[in-house]
Amino acid sequence: MRYIGSKAGLLDELTQILSTHCPGAHSVIDIFAGSGVVTQRLKKEGYLVTGNDCLYFSYCILRGTSGISKMPDFSKLTPFGIDDPIDYLNHLTLTQSGIDLKSCFIYQNYTTTDTCSRMYFQPENALKIDLVRQTIGQWKDKGLIDEDGYYYLLAALLEAVPYVANIAGVYAAYLKYWEHRSFRPLTLKAPEIISSSAACPMYNEDVDELLPKLSADVLYSDSPYNTREYLPNYHILETIARYDNPVIYGVTGMREHKGQRSAFCSKKTVKAAFERMISEANVRYIVISYNNEGLISTKELTALCRKYALPGSLDVIQIPYRRYKSRIPNESEGLLEQIYVFEKKGKEEETPKIHYLKSPMNYVGGKYRVLSQLIPLFPEKIDTFVDLFAGGLDVAVNVNAKKTIVNDVNSFLIEIYEAFQKEKPEKVLAKIDTIIDTWHLSKENREGYLALRAHYNESTERDPIELYVLMCYSFNYQLRFNNAHAFNNPFGRGRSSFNDAMRRNMEAFLPKIADFEFHSQDFRTLDLSMLKKGDFIYCDPPYTITTGYYNDGKRGFSGWSKKDDLALFDFLRELDRRGVKFALSNVLVHKGVENEPLKDFAKDFHLHRIWRSYANASYHAKSTLSRTVEVLVTNYPDNSTGNRSDD
Ligand SMILES: C[S@@+](CC[C@H](N)C(=O)[O-])C[C@H]1O[C@@H](n2cnc3c(N)ncnc32)[C@H](O)[C@@H]1O
Repeated sequence: MRYIGSKAGLLDELTQILSTHCPGAHSVIDIFAGSGVVTQRLKKEGYLVTGNDCLYFSYCILRGTSGISKMPDFSKLTPFGIDDPIDYLNHLTLTQSGIDLKSCFIYQNYTTTDTCSRMYFQPENALKIDLVRQTIGQWKDKGLIDEDGYYYLLAALLEAVPYVANIAGVYAAYLKYWEHRSFRPLTLKAPEIISSSAACPMYNEDVDELLPKLSADVLYSDSPYNTREYLPNYHILETIARYDNPVIYGVTGMREHKGQRSAFCSKKTVKAAFERMISEANVRYIVISYNNEGLISTKELTALCRKYALPGSLDVIQIPYRRYKSRIPNESEGLLEQIYVFEKKGKEEETPKIHYLKSPMNYVGGKYRVLSQLIPLFPEKIDTFVDLFAGGLDVAVNVNAKKTIVNDVNSFLIEIYEAFQKEKPEKVLAKIDTIIDTWHLSKENREGYLALRAHYNESTERDPIELYVLMCYSFNYQLRFNNAHAFNNPFGRGRSSFNDAMRRNMEAFLPKIADFEFHSQDFRTLDLSMLKKGDFIYCDPPYTITTGYYNDGKRGFSGWSKKDDLALFDFLRELDRRGVKFALSNVLVHKGVENEPLKDFAKDFHLHRIWRSYANASYHAKSTLSRTVEVLVTNYPDNSTGNRSDD
């Protein structure tokens, strides 16, 4: 139905945003459901939906469409010769129904008769609305239909009315001439029934009352954007739904609506209303529809969202109004439909700041910045921990386990760790200092750097600690080799050095890795047959859809491709069968490209979104897929109690 602020034209964008920005979400609350189109679409997409609206007619539509998942039982009508109730209602007549014309509220008040001049409906249609409405009520009172049947038929009626109403969109006024549409006979259509694996509850409450009682993965908020109230604009639908013979007044036959003003329709109250809603929502993700000319400014709403969002998780997608509205008001130039989406952070008292150890490797693609999100998603108790693609060890040194096994196919890297392990920490640090002194290394001394590099590459017995020091002074701290396995990373002028922070990190790091067991193999050949229940493996492989220097296959190590992804997925499925827990880091979407096999794999497990902090929320007018979607896939449910800390 046509509805103010309807998102019928935005359903594709909304569902896409839910899938890209809210991974792992299965349930959604559509708290301002209005016409119900969003609830219905999300149910079709497989979400478990909960719908709500403070208007009763909206509730009736929700309850009679998305609120039911199988055809209601109309068998008690059969003895009366009614096999198809919709068809029966479409052919009802006054005589046949035995209904008293005086009791027909719509006919008496919203059409042209001797006593009424309101031109909302043609007399036949006004009467038909009453006959259908009263018959449905009688069937319900006599126990011939149940609640599902009642709302199903009521929804069919309410959805049919706008097609014959003589209005310009809303019921706040009727047209002064009879529109072509109004002559069509009122015709009910059977609402579409969408099946669902669980009940989809619908509510008719104020958001403030209802929200604290609900929980779900996502809250979708499509509140009113301006001072325009909904009830006066849809008063006749409300009266048809309630059929409560209200006191009405004025030219339009308005029902009383004082005291029902929405807090979202007033500049004075809107900000507090948003804050109550966001803070009260027991959900993981919040998705808010709004526009840039609403009662609360973009700046204020962004600030409010950011206050409750996990750092880096807020995204504001803007869609020019012209692109999705067929009827374009003249003043729509510059008007942007906005979708704010973020992951809600845990309550402050549940987020103690945890200090994570930073590896002195400064490894490209290191997970240090997202440890506060990863570690709480790991099992609490771990017997043996395996870091299969260990890289700089940022993850391994922050996991508590009885035993830690570390693997990386880069043998040079593993040799560095083994060399560190062989000596006492003081000796390692002294050795690093000696190398720096011997070659006069500094941020500016390129010659010294090149001399050490040549010395290292030409040595018959290469010293891994020399390699570590070289890396510390090289461009972007990278371990790059040519095909002849000669270290070839250029000098990191002005930027790279073994600085005080790295020294402090090294001091904490060395004791931590003292008991680690190191391997340098392709993951397929590593013997992990001893892993059992209670053990946990973390995998951070190269990402097929992003390009890091370590997976281009040109640096003396074979690259990483789709077939490796598939082999790894099989490998993890096998571990899963053996009861070993796993967590896999990866990127699901990057620059508009989706990792389809990963998406399929993740369907069988649990998907968690990992957020990277950006200084500002990004504004995309084009594709929401342009954002990189980093994820963690686990084969066990989230056991964290929301105790994520900010990074
Ligand atoms: C923009 S419309 C929703 C449109 C809907 N998404 C659609 O596509 O049809 C906003 C809805 O919020 C409802 N509403 C306003 N204030 C409310 C409140 N405090 N609690 C619950 N619903 C409210 C209105 O009745 C209206 O149906």
